[in-house]
Amino acid sequence: MFDLFNNTVNIAHNYLKTIVKPGGVAVDATVGNGNDTLFLAGLVGIHGRVYGFDIQHEAIIKTSEALAEKGLLDITMLFELGHENMGRVITEPVDAVVFNLGYLPGGDHSIVTSPQTTLKAVAEGLSLLKAGGIMCIIIYTGHPGGLEEQECLESYLEGLNKKNYCVCKIDFLNRNKAPFLIVIEKAC
Ligand SMILES: C[S@@+](CC[C@H](N)C(=O)[O-])C[C@H]1O[C@@H](n2cnc3c(N)ncnc32)[C@H](O)[C@@H]1O
Repeated sequence: MFDLFNNTVNIAHNYLKTIVKPGGVAVDATVGNGNDTLFLAGLVGIHGRVYGFDIQHEAIIKTSEALAEKGLLDITMLFELGHENMGRVITEPVDAVVFNLGYLPGGDHSIVTSPQTTLKAVAEGLSLLKAGGIMCIIIYTGHPGGLEEQECLESYLEGLNKKNYCVCKIDFLNRNKAPFLIVIEKAC
């Protein structure tokens, strides 16, 4: 076990903790099993708001139940909708956006995020970020299409104006095929 770098999700959560505060607003762009949604809801608390998107009914239902159990359903708006629509659904600035790409663990591995919709959603998420806000993107390359998604995303992110965004990549050099993290901070 490692406190700071145990796994990619754990690293992303450590960054999110520094930015997302009680009363804040956050987006989980890939709800899946709801772990990130629950984490964000815990950070913003009862005076905050979390928006969540997933195209799978199962993900939305399971996550709604988990949020209800923790008394966090009221502050969460879950959409059974592609994250590429977030720009028309969310009408307020947000502190953080999280993407955990790929397929739903324990679900249908043929349903995966795809480069074009991911790119659109990332662009919309960056526009929604408040000054000083962050986006965390966890990327897997082990499944069909994963490498292509990584290449599309990185080539888009490399082109972001460095005065407006700081784009960092965190990768494990001594782990085989571990997912990696991209953290983007919007200038204050
Ligand atoms: C790796 S899982 C997410 C894991 C999740 N964050 C968790 O904590 O369990 C990826 C999810 O992205 C979803 N997904 C695929 N395409 C999507 C899209 N266009 N918009 C939103 N979600 C999508 C899949 O249905 C899947 O549930």
